[in-house]
Amino acid sequence: MAYSDKVVDHYENPRNVGSFDKGDESIGTGMVGAPACGDVMKLQIKVNPQTGVIEDARFKTYGCGSAIASSSLVTEWVKGKTLDQAAQLKNSQIAEELALPPVKIHCSILAEDAIKAAVEDYKKKHAH
Ligand code: FES
Ligand code: FES
Repeated sequence: MAYSDKVVDHYENPRNVGSFDKGDESIGTGMVGAPACGDVMKLQIKVNPQTGVIEDARFKTYGCGSAIASSSLVTEWVKGKTLDQAAQLKNSQIAEELALPPVKIHCSILAEDAIKAAVEDYKKKHAH
């Protein structure tokens, strides 16, 4: 199966690969696995506590090209967004942008789940 140009681009030049310190108050971490294939994705956001705006993001993904491209794309998209805007991101937007075929849709769902989990984690840290 051929990957789309955008998937190849993100796969060859992944944006924002890496990690933030999980214990940092300004960081939200989402770690999710895909039951369909066993792949794992970690997505982190760095939030401005004053404004609630996401200033930076990182990812580490152990998975296929589509999973890597999906997480790379999401780290670009969420920068400058509020937590609520980021949590509303839909996997269908990712799949459309990357022209993912039906068998690779679950890779984009992984990215949606990961960003939602990262937002939740941040909110939990600040729910006191
Ligand atoms: Fe797991 Fe894609 S099937 S790498
Ligand atoms: Fe499983 Fe892409 S995350 S095939």
